[in-house]
Amino acid sequence: MKKFFSVEDVDSLEEVVQEALQLKANPNANESLGRYKTLGLVFLNPSLRTRLSTQKAAMNLGMNVMVMNMDKDGWALETQDGVVMNGTTVEHIREAAAVMGEYCDILGLRSFPSLKDKEADYNEDLFNKFIKFCGVPVVSLESATRHPLQSLTDLITITEYKQVDKPKVVLAWAPHVKALPQAVANSFAEWMCKAQEQGLVEFTVAHPAGYELADNFTKGATITNNLNEALSGADFVYVKNWSSYKEYGEVYPVSEDWMMNNQKLSLTNDAKVMHCLPVRRDLELSSEILDGPSSLVIKEASNRVWAAQVVLKRMLESLEK
Ligand code: CP
Repeated sequence: MKKFFSVEDVDSLEEVVQEALQLKANPNANESLGRYKTLGLVFLNPSLRTRLSTQKAAMNLGMNVMVMNMDKDGWALETQDGVVMNGTTVEHIREAAAVMGEYCDILGLRSFPSLKDKEADYNEDLFNKFIKFCGVPVVSLESATRHPLQSLTDLITITEYKQVDKPKVVLAWAPHVKALPQAVANSFAEWMCKAQEQGLVEFTVAHPAGYELADNFTKGATITNNLNEALSGADFVYVKNWSSYKEYGEVYPVSEDWMMNNQKLSLTNDAKVMHCLPVRRDLELSSEILDGPSSLVIKEASNRVWAAQVVLKRMLESLEK
């Protein structure tokens, strides 16, 4: 594996999940695979889970890890070509990425979207330039449009906790006070649509009108504006806010109550509740759910290690070829 950016970078979902679960059962089985290899984690935006779980995964594989908080500690990056750099940017991504590639065998990058320039965000301009100029395998730690380590984690978690062969999985929009990226929702939808194609889940997306995701991420999903209808018979409810894709980055007022709580959960098939975290309590998800037996959010965050570890293991193995 030379790149981990989307569901297309994995051949068999079942195989990658089973490999991750084997790593969970035996975390140090490959502790010499990464010896003398260096992982660089580059953050243009904040992170708790992605940062720590990926470091832990790398350490389990015997790797050295370096973390660069570009947003706080790096030079201001220029990402456009043909710019006379006489303004606030100090270093071009061409040099910055190339230099980091000299120090590292594998790089991870987190970069959020602008939520202003839809075309640049959805073309993944910054991420693609980073891949092009760094010259080493790159794992996405969340990009403008996707969060694949989170989505792989979510599939691992659903596989672990499912009570039926083909659970009904619902992605449910939730309220928020800020305009958030579509990346987690896009990515979860993309992975669940592929899991549905492979007969692993039934997948529904529920959101208020105006919050449609881009079609290419939801192809094959059942889509509804009726949350109660979506929740009927659900085995897993994945709660997440996102801003509008159509009116890019906008937040429309929503009059109905979309916060997930126990009353809504009673419509489901005793569903387990998931969220990528961080979560705004009693805005997106009720405290009664987060503190109760239906919540999988901590188990889900714990599984971030095995998602990162299986991806890094596959990248290390490809370095040896
Ligand atoms: N879920 C997730 O990616 O968390 P962080 O933003 O804290 O890494």
